[in-house]
Amino acid sequence: MYRLLRMIREDLANARDHDPAARGDVENAIVYSGLHAIWSHRVAHVLWTRGLRGPARVLAQFTRFLTGVEIHPGATIGRRFFIDHGMGIVIGETAEIGDGVMLYHGVTLGGQVLTQTKRHPTLEDNVTVGAGAKVLGPITIGCGSAIGANAVVTKDVPANHIAVGIPAVNRPRKTNECKKLVDPDRYVDKEPPLF
Ligand SMILES: CC(C)(COP(=O)(O)OP(=O)(O)OC[C@H]1O[C@@H](n2cnc3c(N)ncnc32)[C@H](O)[C@@H]1OP(=O)(O)O)[C@@H](O)C(=O)NCCC(=O)NCCS
Repeated sequence: MYRLLRMIREDLANARDHDPAARGDVENAIVYSGLHAIWSHRVAHVLWTRGLRGPARVLAQFTRFLTGVEIHPGATIGRRFFIDHGMGIVIGETAEIGDGVMLYHGVTLGGQVLTQTKRHPTLEDNVTVGAGAKVLGPITIGCGSAIGANAVVTKDVPANHIAVGIPAVNRPRKTNECKKLVDPDRYVDKEPPLF
């Protein structure tokens, strides 16, 4: 129970960190579909790993209906995962997502083959994926890298790189540290929270 509360608090703090529009925690817990999707996925993933695959799929499908975010219960997702805006997101069964990863709306972490193998991407820590981007196949997006809005990525992206375009072209980021790209504190005057 304590672990669950700690996780919820961490996710709420993470939402504030990643979205300049985020205000009070109570409001955020009610209005952020991305938070609802990840909380539901955590339950569905536990069911999936304990062999309750049918109920896990049903829960994931119900969550998709409510949030527009489709996360396969088999996907492995780390801490401080944030989905901004929700809607139109697909995360495949064998996707692996590290800590501190952020996705905008319309992102697909998809497969290119129909075999039951590792066929979805691996996103290492602190990766950001821009709106509408498609990341396809069992490729790896390295730590601290960012995928530009609407890019189509089918090859590995090294750590601390930015990939833009179709097909995506990589260029190094200006820093070599594995840091998240978004730092709202740099440019936002925080309003006092509503609640
Ligand atoms: C890719 C991205 C991370 C690059 O950020 P950056 O390093 O600050 O890059 P800049 O804005 O300085 O742009 C550098 C160059 O890349 C181009 N570029 C930026 N984003 C691009 C994209 N998604 N696709 C194609 N080209 C892009 C710019 O036009 C610029 O080109 P130029 O050098 O010819 O002028 C960022 O543009 C992006 O797409 N972030 C996703 C944000 C998002 O999805 N927001 C949704 C909010 S609802």
